Amino acid sequence: MMLSIALIWAVLVGFCCLLWLAVGIRRRNPGEPPVENGLIPYLGCALQFGANPLQFLRSRQKKYGHIFTCKIAGQYFHFLCDPFSYHAVIRQGRHLDWMKFHFATSVKAFGHDSFDPRHGHTTENLHQTFLKTLQGEALPSLIDAMMGHLQDIMLDSDTVRPCAERWQVDGIFVFCYKVMFESGYLTLFGKELGRDKPQARQAAQRALVLNALENFKEFDKIFPALVAGLPIHVFKSAHSARENLAKTMHADNLSKRENVSDLISMRMILNDSLSTFNDISKARTHVALLWASQANTLPATFWSLFYLIRSPDAMKAAREEVQKVLQSTGQKAEPNGPRLTLTREELDNMHVLDSVIKEAMRLSSASMNVRVAKDNFLLHLDNQEAYHIRKDDVIALYPPMLHFDPEIFEDPYEYKYDRFLDEDGQEKNTFFRGGRRLRYYYMPFGSGVTKCPGRFFAIHEIKQFLTLALSYFEMELLDPLVKVPPLDQSRAGLGILQPTYDVDFR
Ligand code: HEM
Repeated sequence: MMLSIALIWAVLVGFCCLLWLAVGIRRRNPGEPPVENGLIPYLGCALQFGANPLQFLRSRQKKYGHIFTCKIAGQYFHFLCDPFSYHAVIRQGRHLDWMKFHFATSVKAFGHDSFDPRHGHTTENLHQTFLKTLQGEALPSLIDAMMGHLQDIMLDSDTVRPCAERWQVDGIFVFCYKVMFESGYLTLFGKELGRDKPQARQAAQRALVLNALENFKEFDKIFPALVAGLPIHVFKSAHSARENLAKTMHADNLSKRENVSDLISMRMILNDSLSTFNDISKARTHVALLWASQANTLPATFWSLFYLIRSPDAMKAAREEVQKVLQSTGQKAEPNGPRLTLTREELDNMHVLDSVIKEAMRLSSASMNVRVAKDNFLLHLDNQEAYHIRKDDVIALYPPMLHFDPEIFEDPYEYKYDRFLDEDGQEKNTFFRGGRRLRYYYMPFGSGVTKCPGRFFAIHEIKQFLTLALSYFEMELLDPLVKVPPLDQSRAGLGILQPTYDVDFR
């Protein structure tokens, strides 16, 4: 009996192996990039890639050259490693589809109906909505609201006790998360109208936002697993965290709020007028925007502040820039005095802070840029080679390959706050590889049509945060010789990576 069960198993396993060899493995056709199927059925190279994407891609680049194909979680990814060929993917030829992957990912993670117009749930042009409500004329009011909220929260006695004689100790990560999440949340979603006394209302608001932060963190933890295709029902607490967030974003709750941003109010109108989404689906689209607005900004703020405090040169240059802008606008930072205000132009002219933030993001960003092949086509590279790409395959760019390329950025693992400043103290945008000027050398916000529409606001809000922290506080690391915490690679591919542990400052 035992023998026959073992025999049945052996036959079954053998059959599966044969099936996998027959249909699970891709053989390279003439003219196609070299292919790696990996050793594990379905997953392919996913585990090796996930453990350290940069190392994995570099070793394959050495072996295969500018382009190669890897099977990852059932899909074939063509990794393009030559920055001079990036434009072939970014210029968005007629063979490449950006919507398919993006909309499918959003549906998997947030559980709303699809935004892909081909699926018939909405006719909203989401891309246009984002451009209209996050950029250009919409930007000054976002910046203005953010500056007010940041000061309310930073100077609130629950965040830092005012005029304390003694130093206050906190984790940089914890501090950045609570200040930036609350300010960003209120900037996008406004404040709830209420009839109770202002102080009680304030406390209730605070509790609501801090609760949202806890739910956000719980959900954010499993985000990589959702993108990889695991159903949210597997993660009980993260599922209820997402649904708790969605509840607060039901139309009847949002309509009780004042000073809601154009982004959210316009999306509410368009959800109602152009979609067939039900109420819960509509609320989940707002959760998606909360996530997009916070998930990268928060760790980017952490890294900006961490490297700034850790580098005396950076700190000195940044303080000087902040003092200069306050002087030139006739303002003084006093916790009980009038709130500081800075226009978009004044913030745009703070090139030191710009470089401080850019350099911190260069070292921590790991967003993958992907497009899906609409049909079989020939991809032309810069070196005149061309490769056959099959329909439904993914073409991927992994910008950390640029960000850590020693030919582009000397000593790429070192933080140099002025890397993005030219000799005149203006923004530096000339970077070279092999003597040729690069068009693409810095891509934490993605590229082409899917480039982050919130990037201008993101940089401004981090700049505002740093300006205010430098204006109102003295800051030091508890341990001045603290090492840079390693990046948490579990989110590689999805944006700015978090540190594996927090660092204390005072
Ligand atoms: C440092 C902060 C940020 C980083 C690094 C970042 C990065 C990114 C990246 C890499 C993408 C995807 C691009 C692609 O798939 O090719 C993206 C998309 C997006 N981001 Fe950001 N982002 C940041 C902050 C923000 C903020 C503050 C907002 C809004 C207030 C925002 C709104 C969005 C939206 C709505 C999308 C989806 C765009 C679409 O699908 O068309 N982001 N972001």
